[in-house]
Amino acid sequence: MQSSRSRAFQAAKTAKKDEFYTRLEEIEAEVSFYPGQFVGKTVYMNCDDPSHSNFFRFFANNFHSLGIKRLLASGFKVDCRGNGGASNGLGVWAEYTGIPQDPKSLLPGQVELRTLSGDGDFRSAEAIRLLEEADIVVTNPPFSLFSEYVNCLMDHDKELLILGNMNALTYRNVFPLFQQDLLWYGKSIHSGDREFLVPFNYPLEAANSRMDDAGNKYIRVKGVRWFTNLVPSEGFEGVSLTKEFSAQQYPQYVNYPAIEVSRTRDIPRDYYGEMGVPISFMDHYDPRQFNIIGSSKELALPMDNFAEPGTYQNGGPRFYLHTNTGFRRMYERIVIKRRPKDSM
Ligand SMILES: C[S@@+](CC[C@H](N)C(=O)[O-])C[C@H]1O[C@@H](n2cnc3c(N)ncnc32)[C@H](O)[C@@H]1O
Repeated sequence: MQSSRSRAFQAAKTAKKDEFYTRLEEIEAEVSFYPGQFVGKTVYMNCDDPSHSNFFRFFANNFHSLGIKRLLASGFKVDCRGNGGASNGLGVWAEYTGIPQDPKSLLPGQVELRTLSGDGDFRSAEAIRLLEEADIVVTNPPFSLFSEYVNCLMDHDKELLILGNMNALTYRNVFPLFQQDLLWYGKSIHSGDREFLVPFNYPLEAANSRMDDAGNKYIRVKGVRWFTNLVPSEGFEGVSLTKEFSAQQYPQYVNYPAIEVSRTRDIPRDYYGEMGVPISFMDHYDPRQFNIIGSSKELALPMDNFAEPGTYQNGGPRFYLHTNTGFRRMYERIVIKRRPKDSM
């Protein structure tokens, strides 16, 4: 059984990963790809203390220009930058329906904050009631609950625009949504890292962290992506295909009948069989151009069917390539196949 000390340590570790606050610029950059999609809609942020959330601030400030009908936000008890429920264990919420007209009066700290009767968990009955009133959910949810969070929104059939780690694409419940074209990566982040505000007590040991003159702390996080089911107004960009297939340059995996394409830009234009590509392929995925067959996690056949134990690196299911010196275990791959030419 876990001791109370190790439970406290685990809780602190989880909170450390979950308490990252999104910058206004990030939200602005992504929302700009979906003009018109917020018109007449109720937008809900269910992991956002409205007293300081930049999501609430952004949508309040742009309420009239985006044509939003109603804004709802609820925050969890442990959100440590807010002035909400941290002291009494209760969550907080707020709404904005466009009055007062001047959104400047809605700057954080000036919104009328109401107390929930529970902790503000997005799965609580109170939060679900607010969710049911919403059309679109936009937020950065807790990383440690991403899987469950996605299930909750899909179960309630919501439009969504949420931040997460790109690897969440490989989660058992998330990957099928990408495969069925029910979810995809957003448009504004395709590489690099992004800066997030962290709690005042966050230890700034890493080289990727800083403190501003006001004492606010920030860290840079790699692999961040938007996940959404909103169709960008300019559509999907697709991959421009310039390379030609050769069996030498595109070897087949040892434990699955697909070829390895280690960079998205190297996908051959004249190959219609199955290909393994890195997860970052999804940054350019256009459902009219490719089918998603599966992931190496689910498709890789056991290596002991193909090689002597001890001759290859063990681990969970992955694809392997034959090399001069033995077998190379690949990073997670997505298996794709070109759609017939005429579907483009
Ligand atoms: C990654 S932070 C992002 C906060 C805010 N959405 C933003 O982007 O600035 C995730 C937030 O979810 C809150 N949270 C943690 N568990 C939660 C839960 N079960 N239900 C709702 N919110 C939760 C955390 O306290 C934290 O404030």
